[in-house]
Amino acid sequence: MNDRGFFISLEGIDGSGKTTLKESIIRELNLNNSVVGIREPGGTVVSEQIRDLVLDARNSGIMGKTEALLYAAARSQVVEEVIRPALNRGQIVIADRYLDSTIAYQGYGRGLDLQFLFDLNHLCTGGLYPDLTLYLDIDPLEAYRRRQGELPDRLEQEGLEFQARVRAGYLVLAASEPRIRQLDATRSQRQIHDEALRLISTCLLSRNRD
Ligand code: ADP
Ligand code: TYD
Repeated sequence: MNDRGFFISLEGIDGSGKTTLKESIIRELNLNNSVVGIREPGGTVVSEQIRDLVLDARNSGIMGKTEALLYAAARSQVVEEVIRPALNRGQIVIADRYLDSTIAYQGYGRGLDLQFLFDLNHLCTGGLYPDLTLYLDIDPLEAYRRRQGELPDRLEQEGLEFQARVRAGYLVLAASEPRIRQLDATRSQRQIHDEALRLISTCLLSRNRD
């Protein structure tokens, strides 16, 4: 738990609805709170530059470990420059992806050593974990259908089998980490938004009681 602010991350495979949910939650929470939204990789000038590099479809030669280190570098920068200061000011931070993405994608998707990735995450976040993580669960084929028409980035080009391994990783994480709450992402945007808001309110209330 953070001292003053409240930190929420959104997770799920590509096309699961994270960005849509982030925008609707921010609209609602902003009515009574000060909210900062970021995306990962990204959220700062440097982290957005790393994003361009790591997602560039021409960079097919990036090795798995290099990829993990690039995501970690982008995360380290956004934690220090944006997330920690916002939490210290008492703001709510909503991150479209955070450290679970590294475990799901580089760990379960690519097969990199999980302990190496947990250690790397700890290093690049200084041990800053979300108070609440909303995991949007959806079948990769359904998520893919939603996004037809968009140009695939480097990771999306890797296809449905990769996304299926990533999903399996998220399911393991969601079953083992109490901070992660799993939502059925096949429902309507309104239903998902309402459930997310309920979970956030419950978590905020119990935090304020402590
Ligand atoms: P992500 O950020 O996880 O990649 P997006 O929020 O960009 O996902 O959503 C991917 C696509 O699916 C977008 O076209 C979006 O409008 C659509 N979408 C998002 N949520 C839903 C939903 N609950 N039902 C149907 N389509 C959705
Ligand atoms: P993005 O377009 O933000 O995600 P989405 O397609 O869900 O809207 O692209 C970010 C990509 O980077 C996505 O494919 C997941 C991947 N990624 C990792 O592999 N590891 C990480 O640690 C992070 C933060 C992202």
